[in-house]
Amino acid sequence: MAISISLTVNGAPISASVDPGTLLVQFLRDQLRLTGTHIGCDTAQCGACTVHLNGRAIKSCNILAVQADGTNVTTIEGLAQNGVLHPMQAAFKHCHGLQCGFCTPGMVMSAVSLVQRQPDLTGDDVRAQFDGNLCRCTGYHNIVKAVLEGAAGMKSSGTATASADTAATAPATV
Ligand code: FES
Ligand code: FES
Repeated sequence: MAISISLTVNGAPISASVDPGTLLVQFLRDQLRLTGTHIGCDTAQCGACTVHLNGRAIKSCNILAVQADGTNVTTIEGLAQNGVLHPMQAAFKHCHGLQCGFCTPGMVMSAVSLVQRQPDLTGDDVRAQFDGNLCRCTGYHNIVKAVLEGAAGMKSSGTATASADTAATAPATV
């Protein structure tokens, strides 16, 4: 039996019916067509599915869509504003912090959340905190550089603190 949920995704209110067993990542990808959130494993290890739930990075393969009822979710599609990359996205681009790019959305979402919790990062902090994000291309050196540059960009642009939940007015039903 389908269950009705309501949540905010990238600033837009969403109402939907979901199967009780639907994972949040499946809901985002298959029902909302937000395919920037990737699925890289079935063991909750790779971090490719990382999104923000109420401002904190979580693995969206590891919770059910019904558990996100009433929450505020941000995906990689919600980071850029008015066509301008988020400072962390810009840093990954500038530092070549990606190769195939499959892990990159999850890396960026984890990095933004990390900087919001700990703005003054060292390279060792990044390596220690990113044990839940795997890169099959093993481009970790540039990923660390990108996170540090992105942290500096977030501080200078005032985005190093978690933004308040946003609520739009016209719910979309999917
Ligand atoms: S798909 Fe979620 S951790 Fe790998
Ligand atoms: S850039 Fe290819 S998996 Fe990380």
